[in-house]
Order: sequence, then C-alpha cells, then structure tokens
Amino acid sequence: MNASGAVAAAVVPAAGRGERLGPGAPKALRELGGVPLLVHAVRALARSRAVGLVVVAAPADGVAEVVALLDSHGLDDKDIRVVAGGATRQESVRLGLAAIPEEVGIVLVHDAARPLVPVEVVDAVAAAVRAGCGAVVPAVPLADTVKRVEPNPGGPEPVVDTPERATLRAVQTPQGFDRATLVEVHAKALAEETAGGVAAPPVTDDAGLVERYGGTVVVVPGHEEAFKVTRPLDLVLAEAVLARRRAADAY
Ligand code: CTP
Ligand code: MG
Repeated sequence: MNASGAVAAAVVPAAGRGERLGPGAPKALRELGGVPLLVHAVRALARSRAVGLVVVAAPADGVAEVVALLDSHGLDDKDIRVVAGGATRQESVRLGLAAIPEEVGIVLVHDAARPLVPVEVVDAVAAAVRAGCGAVVPAVPLADTVKRVEPNPGGPEPVVDTPERATLRAVQTPQGFDRATLVEVHAKALAEETAGGVAAPPVTDDAGLVERYGGTVVVVPGHEEAFKVTRPLDLVLAEAVLARRRAADAY
C-alpha cells in the first residue's frame, strides 16, 4: 500500500484496559469469533482502498505481543505500524499520530473496540474529508430518549432537561480529519494540560477536540454494526453479527 497523496492513514487506539468489559485481557486483545477485536478492526480499515497505512497504539507493555499477533493473522504484508499507547485514549491517539509520515494529509481515527465497522463507513468518512470537510464523524440516530441529569451515583438524580431526540446523534468511528487540524488540536490540548490550571472536561472523541477549539465538524451516516464493544452484552451482540456475516458468506 502507499501512504502518500490522497491515501489516508488510520490511527487505531487500542491501549485501553476494557474495565467495563470485566476481568480478562486488555479489550483489544479479547476475542470475537476466535479473532482479537484489534485484528477485526485493523482488517476493516485495511480493506478500504482509501487507507494506505494503519498505526496501532498498543498497550505500552504489549507492543511486541501486538506485532506478533498482527503478523500471525496475516496482516504482515500491509503497511501496519505499532507504537506504545498512553494512559488515556487522547494520549494514545496523539502517540499514534506522531508515527504518521508528514506527507499524509488525511487521518482516520478508529477504535479497536469497533471491530465490525463496515468498509462502506470507512470509505464514506475518507471521501468526505477528501471532499474538503476538515473533521467528519459517522453517527446514527438514537433509539432512546436522553435526559441530562445532575449526577448522583447510586441515588436519585434530578433531571435538568431533555434534549430533543431528533437533533441527537450517537457518534462512532472512524472519524476522519485533515491531518494538520487533528495534530494541532491534540497539541493544544496537551499544552493546556501541561500548563495546569482549570482542566477542561475530558473529551471522549477526537472531533470533540476540534469542536473545543472552534473547528467545524460534520456528521455523515454511520452504521449500526459499527457499535463499540464496551460491556459484556456488546460482545454477545458482536458474536451474533459475526455469525450472521459468516453464514451469509458461506452461500
Ligand atoms: N484506548 C487507548 N488508550 C487508553 C484508553 C483507551 O488506546 N489509554 C482505546 C481503547 O483501546 C479503545 C478506544 O480507546 O479501542 C475506546 O475506548 P473505550 O471503549 O473506553 O475502551 P477502554 O478504555 O479499553 O474501556 P474501559 O473504558 O471500559 O476501560
Ligand atoms: Mg475507556
């Protein structure tokens, strides 16, 4: 593959512990259909012709293990690099970004914890960035009504308000960016953290950083199968989706 020109690079934050999934290996290394979540996620990206390079941010003590794992799943012929991730998702993404060659203009960031993202979503996000959108997130409408509360863990929580559901979207990955924009907002966030003072609330996605510094973010259609494996029930659903795909492929 070729990492220059209009071809995008992808950063895959995979250094999380997966605490909400319960005890066991780091989440990215947990298996779905006998294959680690990370391998599914990297394959989904590598399948896209829009992606020329994949940089995985692995658990800091698991870099060699992740390299071996990717090789053993036949991903050794693709342009895939592995770096040590950080203590937060944001730091892992920043470390991954630092490993992308200067000439790459488009960067996608994709959670290892979203193993089943369809290649059409990867292609659509990359195409929107190529068409001139500086920050693109795939998203789906919400099924549940959402209420804002005053958090009071374990006790009753007063409701503050109810945003109109039709205006809400649940955002997924891969999120796509003009590389310079993404590098800049990560550097700004790091500089602010290092400077101390009142900490900004943590962002849970990269587009959130672009928004924090006044950038424009657009949403494109995501896909229900791009859901994030977070809790044990998500793994049950992911196994079912994978089994359905494998059965369909068998015909
Ligand atoms: N991630 C990372 N580095 C961290 C924390 C998270 O690269 N220090 C990655 C995870 O590996 C995952 C993605 O960010 O692919 C989304 O994070 P999340 O779903 O929260 O995963 P975990 O942090 O592993 O799970 P939990 O919050 O339940 O511990
Ligand atoms: Mg987490």
